[in-house]
Amino acid sequence: MKKFLSLIVAATLSLSLVACGSSQNNNQSTEATSNESSSEVSQEDNSQADGAVAKIKEKGELVMATSPDYPPYEFKIIEDGKEKIVGFDIAIAEEIAKDMGVDLRVLELDFNGLLVSLNSNKADMVMAGMTPDEERSKAVDFSEIYYLAEQSILVPADKKDELNTLESFAGKKIGVQKGSVQEKIAMEQLPDSKIVSLVKLPNIILDLKAGNIDAAIVELPVASGYVKQYPELAISEAKVIDETGGSAIAIKKGNQDLVDQINSTIKRLQDEGAIDQYVVEANEIVNNMVE
Ligand code: ARG
Repeated sequence: MKKFLSLIVAATLSLSLVACGSSQNNNQSTEATSNESSSEVSQEDNSQADGAVAKIKEKGELVMATSPDYPPYEFKIIEDGKEKIVGFDIAIAEEIAKDMGVDLRVLELDFNGLLVSLNSNKADMVMAGMTPDEERSKAVDFSEIYYLAEQSILVPADKKDELNTLESFAGKKIGVQKGSVQEKIAMEQLPDSKIVSLVKLPNIILDLKAGNIDAAIVELPVASGYVKQYPELAISEAKVIDETGGSAIAIKKGNQDLVDQINSTIKRLQDEGAIDQYVVEANEIVNNMVE
């Protein structure tokens, strides 16, 4: 089973490189066509063509950019020999697309390149367990928060008793994802630690398991999944503080119609209790990966 998992990790790492390149290219051609068609519409019907929602309906596709290395939010599985991106963010995005009457396309990018894809019009929205912090809010708009989670510090299980206060991490190497709020949290709240920023989360987990780093900061649902998968990992009793602590969907500034549209789906799903259900389902997939 371990072998199977490491295969998935390896596949994720190599395929993501390929997927990144090719999906970006595909997307550029889609962009060109969709821009053409939307400008055609604007000549005929201005009221329709102005809004971001109208443009998405026109191209029949909602493009969600994500970094699928964050189970249970978004991750890759192999189903019937084919790679598939799943997770509760994807389940929510499917509903957003459904409410707009369009298909969902998932565009895979590195986490630290996600927001740029909005301003370059490669994606309509970014959904990646993303915290709507102040700095990002200057560059993009955010939907309402659709999920709340605290931060946690993953450590080797045999170091759990030793690494149990923020002070105990002095001089230790802390793995964080490049461009994440965890990177900032680590710099601010663990000033005596060495911060190791890596682009892909699976690499951080591999490094932690190999003893190359001493800890990793991730959202609690992510840490819990990894602890179930790898009994040699544990969650430290030490807690970092995260003021923003929630996930929201990022949208290019100036598209209030799209923000409203997305918020209406979030509201519907929250009222139906569907989001909690998606989280349960995504966790089941993560847990089944080890059994
Ligand atoms: N919540 C953190 C942030 O916004 C980490 C999100 C990481 N997401 C991912 N798909 N790798 O910075």
